[in-house]
Amino acid sequence: MSRIEALADAMTLEEQVSLLSSQDFWSVGGMEHLGIGTLRVTDGPNGARGGGGLVGGVKSASFPVGIALGATWNVDLLRQVGDALAEETRSKGAHVLLAPTVNLHRSVTNGRNFECYSEDPVLTAKLAVAYIKGLQSRGVGATIKHFVGNESEIERTSISSDIDERALRELYLVPFEAAVKEGKTWAVMTAYNKLNGTFASENERILNDILRGEWGFDGLVMSDWFGSHSTAETVNAGLDLEMPGPTRDRGQKLVDAVTAGQVSRETVRARALSVLRLMERTRALDDRRPPAEYADDKASHRALIRKAGAEAMVLLKNVGVLPLPASIGKVAVIGPNAKTAQIMGGGSAQLNPHYRISPYDGLHVALGDDRVIYAEGATNHRFQPLLEGSFIAEFFANTELAGQAVHIEEHENAEAFWVGGVGDGKVDPQSFSARVTGSFVPKKSGLHQLGLFSAGFSRLLVDGEVVVDSWTNWTPGSTFFEEGNDEVVGAAWLEAGQSYRLAIEFATKPPRWLGLAAFRAGIGLPLGDEAIAEAVEAARQAEVAVVCIGRTGEWDTEGSDLPSIQLPGRQNELVAAVAAANPRTVVVLQTGGPVEMPWIDDVAAVVEAWYPGQEAGNAIADVLTGRAEPGGRLPQSFPVRWTDNPTHSQDREVYPGLDGHVRYEEGVFIGYRHYEKVGVAPLFPFGFGLSYTQFELSEFVVDTSRFEAEGRVAVRIKVTNVGARAGSTVVQLYVGEASPSVPRPQKELKAFEKGRLAAGEGATVTLNLEPRDFAFFDLEAGNWRVNPGTFHLMVGTSSADIAYQAEIVRKEGLAIRP
Ligand code: BGC
Repeated sequence: MSRIEALADAMTLEEQVSLLSSQDFWSVGGMEHLGIGTLRVTDGPNGARGGGGLVGGVKSASFPVGIALGATWNVDLLRQVGDALAEETRSKGAHVLLAPTVNLHRSVTNGRNFECYSEDPVLTAKLAVAYIKGLQSRGVGATIKHFVGNESEIERTSISSDIDERALRELYLVPFEAAVKEGKTWAVMTAYNKLNGTFASENERILNDILRGEWGFDGLVMSDWFGSHSTAETVNAGLDLEMPGPTRDRGQKLVDAVTAGQVSRETVRARALSVLRLMERTRALDDRRPPAEYADDKASHRALIRKAGAEAMVLLKNVGVLPLPASIGKVAVIGPNAKTAQIMGGGSAQLNPHYRISPYDGLHVALGDDRVIYAEGATNHRFQPLLEGSFIAEFFANTELAGQAVHIEEHENAEAFWVGGVGDGKVDPQSFSARVTGSFVPKKSGLHQLGLFSAGFSRLLVDGEVVVDSWTNWTPGSTFFEEGNDEVVGAAWLEAGQSYRLAIEFATKPPRWLGLAAFRAGIGLPLGDEAIAEAVEAARQAEVAVVCIGRTGEWDTEGSDLPSIQLPGRQNELVAAVAAANPRTVVVLQTGGPVEMPWIDDVAAVVEAWYPGQEAGNAIADVLTGRAEPGGRLPQSFPVRWTDNPTHSQDREVYPGLDGHVRYEEGVFIGYRHYEKVGVAPLFPFGFGLSYTQFELSEFVVDTSRFEAEGRVAVRIKVTNVGARAGSTVVQLYVGEASPSVPRPQKELKAFEKGRLAAGEGATVTLNLEPRDFAFFDLEAGNWRVNPGTFHLMVGTSSADIAYQAEIVRKEGLAIRP
């Protein structure tokens, strides 16, 4: 009998049950009399945030977000990132990282696409496997998420993702399957949503039948936070751990369910063993230290983040302007993202970074003081800019702000996110009020906009007068994971240099789904036409204008989807005006996905830089100056316009959902699979990205000797760097079936290889195909099936740039067990 079996058998039913829910937000276990330590988990995925709430907290290294890592197409790099994140996880006293996120880019507007790698399941799977191996090789558990069908943030805690079996098998399950079979992931997190009508957290078919049965998963399944809604159903379906704690549906309820015969002792033991196994694998079983978190700002992490950031950047257009020559004269650095470093998306993936380098800072260091001119030009915020400064929060143990404050603490800004242990534990987190006070001294006189939103009721007072009322008519909106209302904006004329007293009054309300209390207050003075005029002037004076635009983590965030893929605010106007003033305009785009680019023909260059982590500005400067090459290739097709995307539909059930259902009507045709089917060319295709050098493909050889007997094929191709400098490229192999018996995409990515070559250097790449790479999921047989007939093999450097094709033929069909 193993150690964990012996431990499980030494426990009473109550003790086993206590392992099946968390003690608090982030930890499980801790049974002193049995010598069992405590297992701690942390978000994830672009860093390790540590315990506590989503904002503030101990500082952490901020790595490039998921879509940026997706754009690297670099499996080795993902392994290194996983490795470094294991160190970060340990520095936060945790044993398990809640990562990677591998939902697919079904729509272009999903708020969480930034966190996910790609629209393609194979690219996603290969990167996820490498990331997991990196983490787990250092004894830190991965938690691949969200299993499955969480491709939108709208009503995500209650909606049913209605996905047909082929789309599930051929797209959405693929990364999870690879994570289990190849990555040997130790944990899986279920999605909030229902899948075809049943909550993922109590979906027997995907948890017990597919994950454990077909794929042989032997790790732990946990719910998303507050995503478990029942007792016997979740336990019987295979959900080991209810998160977070204290328990809502387990504890005594589960003991009673066992007594009533709804759950067997055997099942409880199996669930407890999953928890103990994860504790054993991560060495949490023997970890009885009190939680200690520290900031570990390592030089090796800085270097890796900077390298990965540059390797993620995709050069979308370049007409003789990049890289900037060493002899460059003045450079105008313009735009809302120039001086504000956009390093990550929003939601549970955010963390308190060691530092943030803005593009302006990075270019300033790279080019020197006298060469950089700056203009803001326009804004791109979703909410009024956060009120910064010292604020005093007084907590009341009632919801009326009545009587004496029971606790007082200081905050660095007018934002709070309260979960568990609120007010030093002196108030009930579900029922309290708070008054947060500070002051504001405007830099300029004018009609200021004051914005406030809250998960709870709130109002903002200036010198004792209510300016924003987010209390009286509070209605649910799209902030704070749909627990908050939409921002309410009020206005007040404020004079420069005068000090105004600010007070935010807050009271909890009954939670909808998630037990959290939060508010955020901001203030802004809108920029006028003169800001664009100043930017034009700066561009005129410069040899090159670098326009840093895009979105922010307020837009690309968990908890809400994007309203469209247009650039927010007046940014399109800004680019057009700057490009008219200076033909050598370089656009540096920072977004978590595509945007419409009405100015694309008028600018000289475009670089998609995503959210590359704390080294953002340095990595951007590296690419612009040629110190590094833009190593990224698009992991998502960029359509010309939103309406080209398959989820853009008149039928609200297709997207964003209607009456509790979102129907994945397009089936297996997402991303490039869709654009090719309907014959609509995207602005930039999947897999695309320019380089500072050129590559040629030659000597294409297909070895079919094992195709008939084993379903295997090897493809060889020579890649030569025919340009003048070193660089990397990604060779992509796509497969299509000539006359499929069911509708199949024209081509699907099945293998790829990224390689770096010196100028003039050549190398031969071998890409191997397995039987599954030719198969579709046969609904009748419940098997994977390779049809007899002709298959196309296509090799190129994007889904639209195919250099070589071959046709290969099989005589016999082939069935493969799932
Ligand atoms: C997210 C998860 C995250 C969890 C804990 C949820 O809102 O969907 O991805 O790990 O919170 O913060």
